[in-house]
Amino acid sequence: MQDYAKFIQEYPTYDKTHDVDELRDHEYGRLDRLGQVYLDYTGGGLYADSQVRLHQQALTEQVFGNPHSSNPTSLAALQLIESTRATVLQFFNADPAEYTVIFTQNASGALKLVGESYPFEVGGHYLLTFDNHNSVNGIREFAHAKGAQVTYIPICLPEMRVDMDSLGPALDRAAAGKNNLFAYPAQSNFSAVQHPLEWIEIAHAKGWDVLLDAAAFAPCNPLDLGKYKAEFVPLSFYKIFGYPTGIGALVARREALGKLHRPWFSGGTITVASVQGDKYYLAEAPASFEDGTLDYLNIPAVEIGLKHIQSIGFETIHERVRTLTGWLLDNLVKKTHSSGVPLVRIYGPLTTLERGGAVAANFFDKNGKPIDHRSIEQDANKHNISLRTGCFCNPGAGEIALGISKPELATCFSLPGHDQRLSLDDFRLCIDGKSSGAVRVSVGLVSNFEDVQVFLKFAEELLN
Ligand SMILES: Cc1ncc(COP(=O)(O)O)c(C=O)c1O
Repeated sequence: MQDYAKFIQEYPTYDKTHDVDELRDHEYGRLDRLGQVYLDYTGGGLYADSQVRLHQQALTEQVFGNPHSSNPTSLAALQLIESTRATVLQFFNADPAEYTVIFTQNASGALKLVGESYPFEVGGHYLLTFDNHNSVNGIREFAHAKGAQVTYIPICLPEMRVDMDSLGPALDRAAAGKNNLFAYPAQSNFSAVQHPLEWIEIAHAKGWDVLLDAAAFAPCNPLDLGKYKAEFVPLSFYKIFGYPTGIGALVARREALGKLHRPWFSGGTITVASVQGDKYYLAEAPASFEDGTLDYLNIPAVEIGLKHIQSIGFETIHERVRTLTGWLLDNLVKKTHSSGVPLVRIYGPLTTLERGGAVAANFFDKNGKPIDHRSIEQDANKHNISLRTGCFCNPGAGEIALGISKPELATCFSLPGHDQRLSLDDFRLCIDGKSSGAVRVSVGLVSNFEDVQVFLKFAEELLN
Protein backbone atom coordinates (compact mmCIF):
# COMPACT_ATOMS: atom_id res chain seq x y z
CA MET A 1 0.00 0.00 0.00
CA GLN A 2 2.83 2.34 -0.96
CA ASP A 3 0.51 4.76 -2.74
CA TYR A 4 -1.76 5.04 0.27
CA ALA A 5 1.17 5.88 2.53
CA LYS A 6 2.24 8.57 0.09
CA PHE A 7 -1.31 9.90 -0.10
CA ILE A 8 -1.55 10.15 3.69
CA GLN A 9 1.81 11.82 3.83
CA GLU A 10 0.63 14.44 1.36
CA TYR A 11 -2.94 14.72 2.61
CA PRO A 12 -2.78 13.73 6.31
CA THR A 13 -6.25 15.10 7.14
CA TYR A 14 -7.86 12.26 5.16
CA ASP A 15 -7.06 10.13 8.19
CA LYS A 16 -9.52 12.19 10.23
CA THR A 17 -12.39 11.21 7.96
CA HIS A 18 -12.38 7.46 8.65
CA ASP A 19 -15.91 7.64 10.06
CA VAL A 20 -16.93 7.87 6.42
CA ASP A 21 -15.37 4.46 5.70
CA GLU A 22 -17.48 2.90 8.42
CA LEU A 23 -20.51 4.73 7.11
CA ARG A 24 -19.78 3.45 3.61
CA ASP A 25 -19.59 -0.13 4.90
CA HIS A 26 -22.84 0.08 6.85
CA GLU A 27 -24.95 2.41 4.82
CA TYR A 28 -23.65 2.29 1.28
CA GLY A 29 -22.56 -1.37 1.21
CA ARG A 30 -24.17 -1.85 -2.21
CA LEU A 31 -21.34 0.17 -3.79
CA ASP A 32 -18.64 -2.36 -2.88
CA ARG A 33 -20.93 -5.38 -3.07
CA LEU A 34 -21.64 -4.54 -6.70
CA GLY A 35 -18.11 -3.33 -7.42
CA GLN A 36 -19.37 0.06 -8.56
CA VAL A 37 -16.82 2.85 -8.77
CA TYR A 38 -19.07 5.88 -8.50
CA LEU A 39 -17.43 9.08 -9.74
CA ASP A 40 -20.40 11.22 -10.72
CA TYR A 41 -21.33 12.97 -7.48
CA THR A 42 -21.80 16.27 -9.32
CA GLY A 43 -24.40 14.47 -11.40
CA GLY A 44 -26.16 13.02 -8.36
CA GLY A 45 -25.37 12.17 -4.75
CA LEU A 46 -25.81 8.73 -3.20
CA TYR A 47 -28.22 7.88 -0.41
CA ALA A 48 -27.66 5.87 2.76
CA ASP A 49 -29.75 2.73 3.33
CA SER A 50 -31.12 4.29 6.52
CA GLN A 51 -32.57 7.26 4.63
CA VAL A 52 -34.75 4.92 2.61
CA ARG A 53 -35.59 2.82 5.67
CA LEU A 54 -36.62 5.80 7.79
CA HIS A 55 -38.70 7.21 4.98
CA GLN A 56 -40.40 3.89 4.35
CA GLN A 57 -41.09 3.60 8.07
CA ALA A 58 -42.77 7.02 8.11
CA LEU A 59 -44.93 6.02 5.14
CA THR A 60 -45.94 2.66 6.51
CA GLU A 61 -46.61 3.80 10.08
CA GLN A 62 -48.64 6.91 9.31
CA VAL A 63 -51.43 8.04 7.03
CA PHE A 64 -50.86 11.13 4.92
CA GLY A 65 -53.43 13.04 2.89
CA ASN A 66 -53.31 15.93 0.45
CA PRO A 67 -52.06 18.90 2.50
CA HIS A 68 -54.52 21.27 0.81
CA SER A 69 -57.31 19.89 3.01
CA SER A 70 -57.50 20.32 6.75
CA ASN A 71 -58.43 16.84 7.85
CA PRO A 72 -56.22 14.79 10.20
CA THR A 73 -54.24 13.08 7.42
CA SER A 74 -53.70 16.41 5.61
CA LEU A 75 -52.50 17.99 8.80
CA ALA A 76 -50.07 15.11 9.33
CA ALA A 77 -48.61 15.73 5.86
CA LEU A 78 -48.59 19.50 6.38
CA GLN A 79 -46.77 19.16 9.66
CA LEU A 80 -43.93 17.19 8.02
CA ILE A 81 -43.75 19.64 5.10
CA GLU A 82 -43.42 22.60 7.47
CA SER A 83 -40.89 20.86 9.64
CA THR A 84 -38.85 20.05 6.49
CA ARG A 85 -39.03 23.71 5.47
CA ALA A 86 -37.70 24.71 8.88
CA THR A 87 -34.88 22.16 8.64
CA VAL A 88 -33.87 23.46 5.19
CA LEU A 89 -33.62 27.00 6.60
CA GLN A 90 -31.63 25.80 9.57
CA PHE A 91 -29.31 23.77 7.29
CA PHE A 92 -28.40 26.96 5.43
CA ASN A 93 -28.41 29.16 8.54
CA ALA A 94 -31.18 31.21 6.98
CA ASP A 95 -33.31 33.26 9.39
CA PRO A 96 -37.00 32.33 8.87
CA ALA A 97 -37.91 35.99 9.29
CA GLU A 98 -35.73 36.83 6.31
CA TYR A 99 -35.87 33.72 4.11
CA THR A 100 -38.41 31.18 3.02
CA VAL A 101 -38.22 27.84 1.22
CA ILE A 102 -40.25 27.12 -1.90
CA PHE A 103 -40.32 23.45 -2.83
CA THR A 104 -39.83 22.76 -6.53
CA GLN A 105 -39.15 19.73 -8.71
CA ASN A 106 -35.41 20.44 -8.93
CA ALA A 107 -32.94 23.33 -9.21
CA SER A 108 -34.12 23.97 -12.77
CA GLY A 109 -37.69 24.34 -11.51
CA ALA A 110 -36.47 26.88 -8.94
CA LEU A 111 -34.58 28.78 -11.64
CA LYS A 112 -37.61 28.86 -13.90
CA LEU A 113 -39.70 30.34 -11.08
CA VAL A 114 -37.24 33.22 -10.82
CA GLY A 115 -36.87 33.62 -14.59
CA GLU A 116 -40.55 33.74 -15.40
CA SER A 117 -41.45 36.09 -12.57
CA TYR A 118 -38.48 38.43 -12.21
CA PRO A 119 -39.48 41.96 -13.29
CA PHE A 120 -37.08 42.19 -16.24
CA GLU A 121 -37.77 45.39 -18.16
CA VAL A 122 -36.46 47.64 -20.89
CA GLY A 123 -33.43 49.37 -19.40
CA GLY A 124 -32.99 46.58 -16.81
CA HIS A 125 -30.20 44.06 -16.90
CA TYR A 126 -29.50 40.33 -16.62
CA LEU A 127 -25.83 39.77 -15.91
CA LEU A 128 -24.36 36.28 -15.73
CA THR A 129 -21.08 34.45 -15.94
CA PHE A 130 -20.08 32.32 -18.95
CA ASP A 131 -19.75 29.59 -16.36
CA ASN A 132 -23.38 28.69 -15.70
CA HIS A 133 -25.68 25.73 -16.02
CA ASN A 134 -28.14 25.86 -18.93
CA SER A 135 -31.02 26.34 -16.51
CA VAL A 136 -29.43 29.67 -15.53
CA ASN A 137 -28.60 30.51 -19.16
CA GLY A 138 -32.23 29.81 -20.05
CA ILE A 139 -33.41 32.72 -17.89
CA ARG A 140 -31.97 35.02 -20.57
CA GLU A 141 -34.96 34.13 -22.77
CA PHE A 142 -37.31 35.72 -20.21
CA ALA A 143 -34.97 38.73 -20.00
CA HIS A 144 -34.87 39.08 -23.82
CA ALA A 145 -38.66 38.76 -24.06
CA LYS A 146 -39.10 41.68 -21.66
CA GLY A 147 -36.44 43.81 -23.34
CA ALA A 148 -33.78 43.67 -20.63
CA GLN A 149 -30.12 43.79 -21.57
CA VAL A 150 -28.28 40.46 -21.24
CA THR A 151 -24.54 40.50 -20.56
CA TYR A 152 -22.13 37.61 -20.08
CA ILE A 153 -18.94 37.94 -18.02
CA PRO A 154 -16.08 35.88 -19.49
CA ILE A 155 -14.01 33.27 -17.70
CA CYS A 156 -10.33 32.67 -18.41
CA LEU A 157 -8.16 29.64 -18.98
CA PRO A 158 -6.36 27.85 -17.48
CA GLU A 159 -8.24 28.07 -14.14
CA MET A 160 -11.61 28.92 -15.70
CA ARG A 161 -12.16 31.69 -13.15
CA VAL A 162 -14.02 34.89 -13.88
CA ASP A 163 -12.07 37.63 -15.56
CA MET A 164 -11.92 40.14 -12.72
CA ASP A 165 -11.16 42.98 -15.14
CA SER A 166 -14.61 42.37 -16.63
CA LEU A 167 -16.57 41.70 -13.43
CA GLY A 168 -16.00 45.07 -11.73
CA PRO A 169 -17.04 47.22 -14.72
CA ALA A 170 -19.98 44.89 -15.50
CA LEU A 171 -21.29 45.25 -11.93
CA ASP A 172 -20.94 49.02 -12.29
CA ARG A 173 -23.49 48.92 -15.09
CA ALA A 174 -26.61 48.20 -13.02
CA ALA A 175 -29.33 50.47 -14.34
CA ALA A 176 -30.42 52.96 -11.67
CA GLY A 177 -34.09 52.67 -10.74
CA LYS A 178 -34.46 49.45 -12.77
CA ASN A 179 -34.42 45.77 -11.89
CA ASN A 180 -31.02 44.14 -12.30
CA LEU A 181 -30.29 40.47 -11.72
CA PHE A 182 -26.80 38.97 -11.41
CA ALA A 183 -26.50 35.16 -11.60
CA TYR A 184 -23.53 32.91 -10.94
CA PRO A 185 -22.82 29.44 -9.55
CA ALA A 186 -21.23 29.08 -6.10
CA GLN A 187 -19.44 26.12 -7.69
CA SER A 188 -19.07 25.35 -11.37
CA ASN A 189 -20.51 22.06 -12.50
CA PHE A 190 -17.83 22.04 -15.23
CA SER A 191 -14.52 23.08 -13.65
CA ALA A 192 -15.57 22.93 -9.95
CA VAL A 193 -14.24 26.49 -9.53
CA GLN A 194 -15.78 28.04 -6.44
CA HIS A 195 -16.62 31.62 -7.31
CA PRO A 196 -16.36 34.02 -4.36
CA LEU A 197 -19.46 34.37 -2.20
CA GLU A 198 -18.20 37.86 -1.35
CA TRP A 199 -19.48 38.99 -4.75
CA ILE A 200 -23.01 38.92 -3.32
CA GLU A 201 -22.50 41.96 -1.09
CA ILE A 202 -20.43 43.75 -3.72
CA ALA A 203 -23.26 43.25 -6.22
CA HIS A 204 -25.88 44.38 -3.70
CA ALA A 205 -24.00 47.59 -3.08
CA LYS A 206 -24.06 48.28 -6.80
CA GLY A 207 -27.80 47.71 -7.26
CA TRP A 208 -28.13 44.03 -8.18
CA ASP A 209 -30.35 41.25 -6.95
CA VAL A 210 -28.27 38.09 -6.76
CA LEU A 211 -29.16 34.59 -7.90
CA LEU A 212 -26.62 32.18 -6.45
CA ASP A 213 -26.86 28.74 -8.05
CA ALA A 214 -25.94 26.42 -5.19
CA ALA A 215 -26.74 23.11 -6.93
CA ALA A 216 -23.13 21.95 -7.30
CA PHE A 217 -21.79 23.70 -4.16
CA ALA A 218 -24.30 22.60 -1.53
CA PRO A 219 -23.40 18.86 -1.48
CA CYS A 220 -19.90 19.27 -0.02
CA ASN A 221 -19.70 22.80 1.38
CA PRO A 222 -21.56 24.63 4.12
CA LEU A 223 -23.55 27.54 2.70
CA ASP A 224 -24.23 30.24 5.30
CA LEU A 225 -27.11 32.38 4.10
CA GLY A 226 -26.95 34.36 7.33
CA LYS A 227 -23.63 35.67 6.05
CA TYR A 228 -24.05 35.50 2.27
CA LYS A 229 -27.49 36.94 1.68
CA ALA A 230 -28.27 36.10 -1.93
CA GLU A 231 -31.87 36.83 -2.93
CA PHE A 232 -32.46 33.57 -4.80
CA VAL A 233 -30.74 30.25 -4.09
CA PRO A 234 -31.83 27.26 -6.24
CA LEU A 235 -30.77 23.70 -5.44
CA SER A 236 -31.67 20.03 -5.94
CA PHE A 237 -31.76 17.74 -2.91
CA TYR A 238 -30.75 14.54 -4.72
CA LYS A 239 -27.37 16.19 -5.39
CA ILE A 240 -26.78 16.60 -1.64
CA PHE A 241 -27.98 13.24 -0.31
CA GLY A 242 -29.19 11.14 -3.23
CA TYR A 243 -32.76 10.45 -2.17
CA PRO A 244 -35.40 11.45 -3.00
CA THR A 245 -35.09 12.62 -6.58
CA GLY A 246 -37.69 15.02 -7.90
CA ILE A 247 -37.48 17.63 -5.14
CA GLY A 248 -35.53 20.86 -5.13
CA ALA A 249 -35.97 24.23 -3.56
CA LEU A 250 -35.75 27.90 -4.13
CA VAL A 251 -34.46 29.36 -0.89
CA ALA A 252 -35.35 33.01 -1.25
CA ARG A 253 -35.35 36.25 0.66
CA ARG A 254 -38.93 37.17 1.48
CA GLU A 255 -38.35 40.78 0.48
CA ALA A 256 -37.08 39.77 -2.96
CA LEU A 257 -40.04 37.45 -3.51
CA GLY A 258 -42.23 40.53 -3.13
CA LYS A 259 -40.70 41.82 -6.37
CA LEU A 260 -41.65 38.76 -8.41
CA HIS A 261 -44.80 38.61 -10.52
CA ARG A 262 -46.07 35.13 -11.18
CA PRO A 263 -47.32 34.83 -14.76
CA TRP A 264 -50.30 32.67 -13.81
CA PHE A 265 -52.16 31.17 -10.90
CA SER A 266 -52.94 27.56 -10.18
CA GLY A 267 -54.26 25.22 -7.56
CA GLY A 268 -52.55 25.93 -4.28
CA THR A 269 -51.18 29.38 -5.12
CA ILE A 270 -54.27 31.50 -4.46
CA THR A 271 -56.51 32.45 -1.57
CA VAL A 272 -59.46 33.25 -3.86
CA ALA A 273 -59.99 32.88 -7.61
CA SER A 274 -63.23 33.63 -9.41
CA VAL A 275 -64.55 32.55 -12.78
CA GLN A 276 -67.39 35.05 -13.13
CA GLY A 277 -65.45 37.81 -11.48
CA ASP A 278 -62.33 37.10 -13.57
CA LYS A 279 -60.17 37.81 -10.56
CA TYR A 280 -57.68 35.98 -8.38
CA TYR A 281 -55.73 36.74 -5.21
CA LEU A 282 -52.36 35.11 -4.66
CA ALA A 283 -51.54 33.49 -1.34
CA GLU A 284 -48.49 34.55 0.66
CA ALA A 285 -45.13 33.01 -0.29
CA PRO A 286 -44.13 30.19 -0.28
CA ALA A 287 -47.62 28.89 -1.21
CA SER A 288 -47.94 31.41 -4.06
CA PHE A 289 -44.95 29.79 -5.78
CA GLU A 290 -45.88 26.15 -5.25
CA ASP A 291 -48.08 25.09 -8.14
CA GLY A 292 -50.56 22.32 -7.45
CA THR A 293 -50.04 19.62 -4.87
CA LEU A 294 -46.56 19.30 -3.40
CA ASP A 295 -44.82 15.93 -3.46
CA TYR A 296 -46.00 15.49 0.11
CA LEU A 297 -45.01 11.85 0.45
CA ASN A 298 -41.40 12.50 -0.55
CA ILE A 299 -40.79 15.84 1.15
CA PRO A 300 -40.36 14.13 4.55
CA ALA A 301 -37.41 12.24 3.04
CA VAL A 302 -35.69 15.60 2.49
CA GLU A 303 -35.66 16.24 6.21
CA ILE A 304 -34.25 12.75 6.79
CA GLY A 305 -31.53 13.45 4.20
CA LEU A 306 -30.58 16.82 5.69
CA LYS A 307 -30.27 15.29 9.15
CA HIS A 308 -28.11 12.52 7.71
CA ILE A 309 -25.70 15.10 6.27
CA GLN A 310 -25.71 17.05 9.53
CA SER A 311 -24.84 13.89 11.44
CA ILE A 312 -21.70 13.47 9.33
CA GLY A 313 -20.84 17.18 9.27
CA PHE A 314 -19.46 19.32 6.49
CA GLU A 315 -16.02 19.48 8.07
CA THR A 316 -15.60 15.76 7.42
CA ILE A 317 -17.32 15.75 4.03
CA HIS A 318 -15.37 18.74 2.75
CA GLU A 319 -12.00 17.42 3.94
CA ARG A 320 -12.66 14.00 2.46
CA VAL A 321 -13.51 15.51 -0.90
CA ARG A 322 -10.66 18.03 -0.80
CA THR A 323 -7.96 15.45 -0.08
CA LEU A 324 -9.18 12.97 -2.69
CA THR A 325 -9.46 15.74 -5.29
CA GLY A 326 -5.91 16.87 -4.53
CA TRP A 327 -4.54 13.36 -5.01
CA LEU A 328 -6.51 12.89 -8.21
CA LEU A 329 -5.25 16.19 -9.66
CA ASP A 330 -1.62 15.62 -8.60
CA ASN A 331 -1.52 12.20 -10.19
CA LEU A 332 -3.43 12.96 -13.36
CA VAL A 333 -1.15 15.85 -14.34
CA LYS A 334 1.92 13.65 -13.83
CA LYS A 335 0.88 11.14 -16.46
CA THR A 336 2.75 11.59 -19.73
CA HIS A 337 3.24 9.40 -22.80
CA SER A 338 6.73 8.14 -23.66
CA SER A 339 6.64 10.82 -26.38
CA GLY A 340 6.52 13.42 -23.63
CA VAL A 341 2.93 14.39 -24.49
CA PRO A 342 0.80 14.80 -21.34
CA LEU A 343 -2.08 12.32 -21.11
CA VAL A 344 -4.61 14.86 -19.87
CA ARG A 345 -5.50 18.47 -20.09
CA ILE A 346 -7.48 19.58 -17.06
CA TYR A 347 -9.91 22.46 -17.39
CA GLY A 348 -9.85 24.27 -14.07
CA PRO A 349 -7.63 24.77 -11.03
CA LEU A 350 -4.84 22.23 -10.48
CA THR A 351 -4.76 22.72 -6.72
CA THR A 352 -7.50 22.30 -4.13
CA LEU A 353 -7.67 26.03 -3.47
CA GLU A 354 -11.16 27.52 -4.04
CA ARG A 355 -12.41 24.53 -5.98
CA GLY A 356 -14.67 21.58 -5.38
CA GLY A 357 -14.42 17.87 -6.06
CA ALA A 358 -14.97 17.61 -9.81
CA VAL A 359 -12.20 17.34 -12.38
CA ALA A 360 -13.01 18.01 -16.03
CA ALA A 361 -10.41 16.97 -18.59
CA ASN A 362 -9.70 15.64 -22.02
CA PHE A 363 -7.34 12.79 -22.77
CA PHE A 364 -4.73 12.81 -25.57
CA ASP A 365 -2.83 10.09 -27.40
CA LYS A 366 0.94 10.03 -27.70
CA ASN A 367 0.77 12.32 -30.75
CA GLY A 368 -1.27 14.91 -28.90
CA LYS A 369 -4.52 14.02 -30.69
CA PRO A 370 -7.59 14.21 -28.43
CA ILE A 371 -9.21 10.88 -27.56
CA ASP A 372 -12.96 11.18 -28.06
CA HIS A 373 -14.60 11.58 -24.65
CA ARG A 374 -17.32 9.13 -25.71
CA SER A 375 -14.78 6.35 -26.16
CA ILE A 376 -13.31 7.14 -22.72
CA GLU A 377 -16.78 6.73 -21.27
CA GLN A 378 -17.30 3.43 -23.06
CA ASP A 379 -13.99 2.12 -21.71
CA ALA A 380 -14.80 3.38 -18.22
CA ASN A 381 -18.18 1.62 -18.37
CA LYS A 382 -16.38 -1.68 -18.96
CA HIS A 383 -14.53 -1.09 -15.67
CA ASN A 384 -17.78 -0.29 -13.80
CA ILE A 385 -16.61 3.30 -13.43
CA SER A 386 -19.48 5.81 -13.50
CA LEU A 387 -18.25 9.15 -14.81
CA ARG A 388 -19.80 11.88 -16.92
CA THR A 389 -18.90 13.13 -20.38
CA GLY A 390 -20.07 15.95 -22.63
CA CYS A 391 -20.43 19.60 -21.74
CA PHE A 392 -22.43 18.96 -18.57
CA CYS A 393 -25.16 21.46 -19.59
CA ASN A 394 -22.62 24.26 -19.20
CA PRO A 395 -21.92 25.45 -22.76
CA GLY A 396 -20.21 28.70 -21.73
CA ALA A 397 -17.52 26.90 -19.76
CA GLY A 398 -17.33 24.26 -22.50
CA GLU A 399 -16.74 26.81 -25.26
CA ILE A 400 -13.92 28.45 -23.29
CA ALA A 401 -12.33 25.14 -22.27
CA LEU A 402 -12.44 23.68 -25.76
CA GLY A 403 -11.46 26.88 -27.57
CA ILE A 404 -14.66 27.16 -29.61
CA SER A 405 -14.93 30.77 -30.74
CA LYS A 406 -17.89 33.08 -31.31
CA PRO A 407 -17.27 33.38 -35.12
CA GLU A 408 -16.98 29.60 -35.38
CA LEU A 409 -20.33 29.20 -33.61
CA ALA A 410 -21.95 31.93 -35.71
CA THR A 411 -20.80 30.15 -38.91
CA CYS A 412 -22.11 26.84 -37.67
CA PHE A 413 -25.50 28.22 -36.61
CA SER A 414 -26.01 30.05 -39.93
CA LEU A 415 -25.28 27.04 -42.15
CA PRO A 416 -28.20 25.96 -44.39
CA GLY A 417 -30.51 23.67 -42.45
CA HIS A 418 -29.19 24.82 -39.07
CA ASP A 419 -31.71 27.58 -38.42
CA GLN A 420 -34.27 25.49 -36.50
CA ARG A 421 -32.64 22.20 -35.58
CA LEU A 422 -29.07 21.11 -34.95
CA SER A 423 -28.12 17.62 -33.84
CA LEU A 424 -25.12 17.04 -31.64
CA ASP A 425 -23.48 15.09 -34.46
CA ASP A 426 -23.91 18.01 -36.88
CA PHE A 427 -22.51 20.34 -34.23
CA ARG A 428 -19.47 18.05 -33.94
CA LEU A 429 -18.92 18.30 -37.69
CA CYS A 430 -19.02 22.12 -37.44
CA ILE A 431 -16.20 22.24 -34.91
CA ASP A 432 -14.23 19.62 -36.78
CA GLY A 433 -10.96 18.69 -35.13
CA LYS A 434 -11.91 20.05 -31.72
CA SER A 435 -13.37 18.11 -28.85
CA SER A 436 -17.05 18.76 -28.40
CA GLY A 437 -16.95 17.80 -24.76
CA ALA A 438 -14.84 16.52 -21.89
CA VAL A 439 -14.72 13.85 -19.23
CA ARG A 440 -15.79 14.78 -15.71
CA VAL A 441 -14.84 12.77 -12.66
CA SER A 442 -16.37 13.89 -9.39
CA VAL A 443 -15.89 12.64 -5.84
CA GLY A 444 -18.30 13.14 -2.96
CA LEU A 445 -19.68 12.11 0.38
CA VAL A 446 -18.57 8.45 0.53
CA SER A 447 -15.78 8.39 -2.05
CA ASN A 448 -12.65 6.64 -0.88
CA PHE A 449 -9.00 6.33 -1.86
CA GLU A 450 -9.68 3.07 -3.74
CA ASP A 451 -12.25 4.77 -6.01
CA VAL A 452 -9.69 7.34 -7.05
CA GLN A 453 -6.98 4.71 -7.48
CA VAL A 454 -9.20 2.66 -9.79
CA PHE A 455 -9.68 5.71 -11.97
CA LEU A 456 -5.97 6.57 -11.97
CA LYS A 457 -5.16 3.00 -12.99
CA PHE A 458 -7.74 3.23 -15.75
CA ALA A 459 -6.08 6.46 -16.94
CA GLU A 460 -2.68 4.78 -16.82
CA GLU A 461 -3.95 2.18 -19.27
CA LEU A 462 -4.55 4.94 -21.80
CA LEU A 463 -0.86 5.74 -21.94
CA ASN A 464 0.85 4.94 -25.24
C1 LIG B 1 -24.62 24.11 -11.07
C2 LIG B 1 -25.91 23.45 -11.47
N1 LIG B 1 -27.02 24.19 -11.58
C3 LIG B 1 -28.20 23.66 -11.91
C4 LIG B 1 -28.33 22.32 -12.15
C5 LIG B 1 -29.66 21.77 -12.54
O1 LIG B 1 -30.07 20.82 -11.62
P1 LIG B 1 -31.34 19.89 -11.95
O2 LIG B 1 -31.02 19.15 -13.19
O3 LIG B 1 -31.47 19.02 -10.75
O4 LIG B 1 -32.49 20.81 -12.13
C6 LIG B 1 -27.20 21.50 -12.07
C7 LIG B 1 -27.28 20.06 -12.38
O5 LIG B 1 -26.33 19.41 -12.70
C8 LIG B 1 -25.96 22.08 -11.70
O6 LIG B 1 -24.85 21.33 -11.57
